[in-house]
Amino acid sequence: MRKPLMAGNWKMYKNAGETTAFFEKFLPLVAGSAHADVVIGAPFVNLPAAVAATAGSKVEIGAQNLFWAKEGAYTGEISGPMLVGVGCKWVIIGHSERRQYFGETEETVLKRTLAALEYGLKPIVCVGERLEERESGSTEAVLKAQFDGGIAPLSDAQFGLITIAYEPVWAIGTGKTATPEMAADAHRYLRSLVAGKYGAEAAAKTRILYGGSVKPDNVKGLMAQPEIDGALVGGASLDAVGFASIVNF
Ligand code: 13P
Repeated sequence: MRKPLMAGNWKMYKNAGETTAFFEKFLPLVAGSAHADVVIGAPFVNLPAAVAATAGSKVEIGAQNLFWAKEGAYTGEISGPMLVGVGCKWVIIGHSERRQYFGETEETVLKRTLAALEYGLKPIVCVGERLEERESGSTEAVLKAQFDGGIAPLSDAQFGLITIAYEPVWAIGTGKTATPEMAADAHRYLRSLVAGKYGAEAAAKTRILYGGSVKPDNVKGLMAQPEIDGALVGGASLDAVGFASIVNF
């Protein structure tokens, strides 16, 4: 009942020309992929090129962050209305790289998510434990703190509009994927938190994506887990043929 969502996170890669070239190759490969929703999270400056290249296709475009104010004296920031204005539909929020390098906290994740919803963007909210947290057995405590602080203050209606991405930090860009069973355990735990706060029906509807070294050769095993509703793909989303084969797992 949950339609898979296959999302690419391009991080700080590709220029406008490379963006257009990617979609020229990619779109024909996923034109028939009715089984999944497809999103690409592009760098801010390439959003117009990405939106133009995907016009009339099934692929929707997302940003990788936003600031929560509508406008104002916030040098260097980008607002929700600016993203909507260039045709962006989605936004990735709270990615571990933003938590690690740019001071993202539960509080700012929540503010960004509320702003995204206010301006009509669909948030993909990222959670996940670091290696030392997994090794010390505190994965569930970390996920609970991230859920309680960054997500659970949302109203039922607001929560119904978000997607959660579970990205174990130790699996990002390292080639170390969580095994399908490890990912499914974390997804089950997150879904239990959703059920506890928003009820069983909301828990059954919420899409929880897995992210962390998803590749064409491991996506099938991950997607075979009923708990895993899609993928948030970094490195392997940069290649049109590779990402198309992930979409078409
Ligand atoms: P990799 O797929 O490169 O490990 O990155 C995952 C990620 O951070 C997606 O948001």
